[in-house]
Amino acid sequence: MAVPIIIDCDPGHDDVLAIWLAAGNPDIDLRAITTVAGNGSLEHTTLNARVATTVAAIAGVPIAAGAAGPLTRKLRTAPHIHGDNALGGVELPEPTTPLDPRTAIELIVDTLNSSTETVTLVPTGPLTNIGQLIQEHPEVLPKVERIVWMGGSTTRGNMTAYAEFNAWVDPEAIDIVVKSGIPFTMVGLNITHQALITQDVIERIAAIGNQTSAFGVQLLRFFNSTYEAAEGMSDGPLHDPITVALLADPNVVESIESHIDVEVNGTYTAGATCIDIHDMLGQPNNVTVPIRLNVDRYWDLIVDAIAHLR
Ligand code: RIB
Ligand code: CA
Repeated sequence: MAVPIIIDCDPGHDDVLAIWLAAGNPDIDLRAITTVAGNGSLEHTTLNARVATTVAAIAGVPIAAGAAGPLTRKLRTAPHIHGDNALGGVELPEPTTPLDPRTAIELIVDTLNSSTETVTLVPTGPLTNIGQLIQEHPEVLPKVERIVWMGGSTTRGNMTAYAEFNAWVDPEAIDIVVKSGIPFTMVGLNITHQALITQDVIERIAAIGNQTSAFGVQLLRFFNSTYEAAEGMSDGPLHDPITVALLADPNVVESIESHIDVEVNGTYTAGATCIDIHDMLGQPNNVTVPIRLNVDRYWDLIVDAIAHLR
């Protein structure tokens, strides 16, 4: 049976590919998309989610807008990677996908309540919406199968020495998720930096030859160019789709069980996801951490999904 999921995202180049993988893979049942401020403003990330579904002709998946900023902090975005509109490098068509009138939280609650199965939440941006859902709607949490988040890192950060961007934007939201006890998977930079967008990958996607692949190639070339400028990486890491890939095919990653604590107070370390890899604290495991990616299988999943779209 296909895995029912809700993607909560901040498109964002890699968020778009995660949406496409979810919609194009037969083992995933994409029930809803919600948006959050992160890579760009909520206005941009929400428009970009509607563009992503328009380009790929993904119909029947409601899109609702969520938080315009973190739970307690001031919003800080990532134009140096994603551009000023959070989806730089390509001309954006007028979206045909409507914006659902509900808030993100209302859409998630309705989707969970109307599902006969438990649903996996797949956040690929800051965890603000998920943190708010946990705080405001404890009654629906039994319908959440697990949370699979792209964020954090078992090693260093990409916004500060120790904080990855999604974690850095809203550390307090991570703390709420961790303390909720909902089964939690952290897809961190430690594994996403194994998913490098090489020229071979771009050529494979270009060779698909449909509208979605042509749009995707422009996204990936821009993303690689900003990673080169910002981090000296000529092949950028395609972070977000790993969350969906491991739900479609659990064998695409190897994972460990560990303990996570989140730094919310550190002047220089706020947003650090402290994974006790060597179990030095003797604390109970509370996170699943994918550590190794089957790279060939990952790109096969993405290419096959895009080929199933328009
Ligand atoms: O640090 C990478 C993460 O931050 C990705 O999810 C990217 O889209 C941004 O949201
Ligand atoms: Ca993202």
